[in-house]
Amino acid sequence: KALSIVGCPFSGGQKRAGVDSGPNSLVDAGLIQQLEDLGWNVDFGGHQQFEEVNKLLRDGDPDIGNMKNPRTVSEVTRQVAETVSAYAKKGRLPLTLGGDHSLALGTVSGSLRAHPDAALIWIDAHADINTPATTPSGNLHGCPVSFLLGLPGTDVEPFKSWLPASPLLKSDSLVYIGLRDIDSGERKILRENGIKAFSMHEVDKYGIGKVVELALEHVNKGKEIKRPIHLSFDVDALDPSVAPSTGTPVRGGLTFREGHYICEALYETGCLVAMDLMEVNPSLMQKRDAEQTIAIGCSLIRSALGETLL
Ligand code: ARG
Ligand code: MN
Ligand code: MN
Ligand code: MN
Repeated sequence: KALSIVGCPFSGGQKRAGVDSGPNSLVDAGLIQQLEDLGWNVDFGGHQQFEEVNKLLRDGDPDIGNMKNPRTVSEVTRQVAETVSAYAKKGRLPLTLGGDHSLALGTVSGSLRAHPDAALIWIDAHADINTPATTPSGNLHGCPVSFLLGLPGTDVEPFKSWLPASPLLKSDSLVYIGLRDIDSGERKILRENGIKAFSMHEVDKYGIGKVVELALEHVNKGKEIKRPIHLSFDVDALDPSVAPSTGTPVRGGLTFREGHYICEALYETGCLVAMDLMEVNPSLMQKRDAEQTIAIGCSLIRSALGETLL
């Protein structure tokens, strides 16, 4: 049981300042000790240093088509992919602390280099599957999944300089839980690619227990549950009353227990090989809200890494 913390103080995939302090807030809240108490050997040598970001911010990073900060996001995610794959190949579970969700282009790429058969479970209010052509905002935190799947329109610079020509992830190796704010271009992509998604409607209808069971069955094609799993958890999947301090809150989200249940159930599979906890922005809302959101970030991580109620 060994893990490495990949702290990613990065906010360039969206517009709101402060999400770059998410990783430090989670660590300051005592996350490392909490994980050691669960029996993990935790390695944390400080947060990622994104030298290129500072350089690009000085020189400017003009839009490419609709994409905002394209060179910065590309360089940061390229670097994160290297870091994550190196830990995963050493048999250490990479736990990435965001930062905005564009980082998952790096984390999932890194996981798939070490575990080519891994499936991706994406917990989010949003599908984050816009392409550079469909994105209504130009914010790349709304786009990482389209790049991972190599959808038409993602074969663009600067990303094509490091992303593989044939995509690492197939559309049937991905499943969403918690969706409730999908752009029209994204809805079309989900439908045309037959991507499995459990929106809040399905969570209401079947209950979270059944939804997680169906999600695991889907990525394992009905066979025994054993594929490696990369869990990418956007804290905005939770209802804003539960996790208020995040950049793109959407009402009608997962309850405290539903969020934790997902993490507990994925731990129970024994198949989790990587986790991301993204979009905690302690500078939004009141201090109390930020503290609550940080505390919930830590407890979701603990649940995914073996904390049980009994
Ligand atoms: N769909 C919207 C967009 O593409 C919102 C994305 C929000 N993403 C997130 N990781 N919070 O701009
Ligand atoms: Mn989103
Ligand atoms: Mn989201
Ligand atoms: Mn997201």
